[in-house]
Amino acid sequence: MQLTYLGHSSFLLKTKVSTLLFDPFISPNSLVNEVRKNALDPAAMANLDPANIKCDYVLLSHGHEDHVADAEAILKRTGAKVVSNFEIVSWYAAKGITNNHPMNLGGRWTFDFGRVKYVPAIHSSGLPDGAYGGNPGGFVIQADGKTIYYSGDTALSYDMKLIAEEFELDYAIMCIGDNFTMGPKDVLKASDFVNCNNVIGMHYDTFGYIKIDHSETIKMFESKGKKLTLMNIGETKEL
Ligand code: NI
Ligand code: MN
Repeated sequence: MQLTYLGHSSFLLKTKVSTLLFDPFISPNSLVNEVRKNALDPAAMANLDPANIKCDYVLLSHGHEDHVADAEAILKRTGAKVVSNFEIVSWYAAKGITNNHPMNLGGRWTFDFGRVKYVPAIHSSGLPDGAYGGNPGGFVIQADGKTIYYSGDTALSYDMKLIAEEFELDYAIMCIGDNFTMGPKDVLKASDFVNCNNVIGMHYDTFGYIKIDHSETIKMFESKGKKLTLMNIGETKEL
């Protein structure tokens, strides 16, 4: 399967049968707009245009604006199914988006592409208009023979060890920008807790509060025998 980074915490995951979009915060992201403006091959950047994205599912980890900004427009245009906690799914249903699958923490469901477990995140989850967004979460995705943890926004938590007890992860996509979420040192520990040395970073650099030093952070992981990948915006990686 293919993973494309759309900046901040947003990814497209293309599985054999379906394409999943995570936490779309694309049009308001100045880093994305810079990449699009400077692209030598604009066609290769089609995924960075919310008006062009093709997906079958939109997975939302929590209700914050920097995770849902483009969700409503993409859901309405594509008819994709929104997968999130009950409160967030209901908030979209009230806007007429009724193709949905509500979940809550600890729950699991089998979709056409594979299985999803909605796992706890230590964070907050107000929706952009101030509505209650339920509890924040992350996802464990099992598809095409691979198992991937997408942390959402979270602090380091001992509960992550439960993920290692239940799953053998191939990749852990984790927030690493610090200030609002885990920073690099906590992600190192989190990768031990979830027992996965193949980490893909997210939720860094977008705002001043969450800028990280890429080479220093990657070296920090290398020194512990771990691999940290910080994808370029628009880059696609084969998982
Ligand atoms: Ni957040
Ligand atoms: Mn966030």
